[in-house]
Amino acid sequence: MFILNANEPEELATYLQHQQWFAANETIVSLSKPGEGNMNCVLRIETESRSFIVKQSRGYVEKYPQVLAPEARVLTEGAFYKKISSSEKVQRAMPKLLGIDAVNNLIALEDLGKTNDYTVLYDLQQKLEVGELQQLVNYLNGLHQSFQKTVVDDELTNTEMRSLNYEHIFEYPFREENGFNLDSVQEGLQKLALSYKKNSDLKQKIERLGSLYLSKGKYLLQGDFYPGSWLKTNQGIKVIDPEFCFYGLREFDLGVLLAHLYLTQQEESAIDFVKENYYSFAELNTTILNGFIGCEIMRRLIGLAQLPLKMDLKTKATLLQFAENLILK
Ligand SMILES: Nc1ncnc2c1ncn2[C@@H]1O[C@H](COP(=O)(O)OP(=O)(O)OP(=O)(O)O)[C@@H](O)[C@H]1O
Ligand SMILES: [Mg+2]
Repeated sequence: MFILNANEPEELATYLQHQQWFAANETIVSLSKPGEGNMNCVLRIETESRSFIVKQSRGYVEKYPQVLAPEARVLTEGAFYKKISSSEKVQRAMPKLLGIDAVNNLIALEDLGKTNDYTVLYDLQQKLEVGELQQLVNYLNGLHQSFQKTVVDDELTNTEMRSLNYEHIFEYPFREENGFNLDSVQEGLQKLALSYKKNSDLKQKIERLGSLYLSKGKYLLQGDFYPGSWLKTNQGIKVIDPEFCFYGLREFDLGVLLAHLYLTQQEESAIDFVKENYYSFAELNTTILNGFIGCEIMRRLIGLAQLPLKMDLKTKATLLQFAENLILK
């Protein structure tokens, strides 16, 4: 098994030659980490004439090796990239897939350049421009429309990754004894979370939403459509990291997008813009959509997958209340 390692460029060069992802006399000029990530090993390879990205998944989370994760998850990501390449509209907004190595759980991707993602929005200092919102909605419109199924089947079920996400969105945050002291994130957060963890009506609704998340659907979803998956490039917003992709309810992708618009305190007009420009908003199930928005807001505030959110406790309390109402009503 080949193990990707930033400190072993010679072994990597040999591997790339063997894989024929390198031309005969191509060599590595520079090897670097392209950005912050937790789950996988991601590297930027620069040669004399080009650069590209390689991504390897292992049987654990890269940053927390004691946490197990589905070993071959990057192959599902590769399959997603392969699938969307047939839609010009969707492909344009994502890196091109350059190669898949199913033996070593590794993919090669087009390098979108040394850019930032949109996690800077969690500083709460920036509003997305209409043009940016348009690009985000266009992406979901293209993805959800182009790959819609008439009959639900077993393509891209991504079951293991979905179970992992299910646990972190719908269960863990609401378990009273989950071993995570929220006061270590922000003093007072633990107490704030407790009333939600003790609300059985709320938990019942969340359980139902969790089952819907786990159910099969007709729409191909990116599965993790939040600012960490959006790169700001010279060619506009590009979307990366579809490792949580699956065929499911389109309300989930849209709900996650809207949740992060609330979490980053975007204007109400931004929310309206998304709703007005999503291609068939009127056909959506608003109870499910609002439920997914609420769950994503709550899990980001009181779950394990914390964001670099610069928000005071009082504002978090208001947002949690808002999220609860979205789920309960
Ligand atoms: N094709 C690309 N072009 C340029 N930069 C990229 C590309 N793919 C990834 N990156 C950079 O590398 C970072 C990590 O990549 P990615 O999000 O795919 O990894 P991950 O391990 O799945 O991360 P996470 O733990 O957030 O899920 C990205 O945030 C981005 O900055
Ligand atoms: Mg990822």
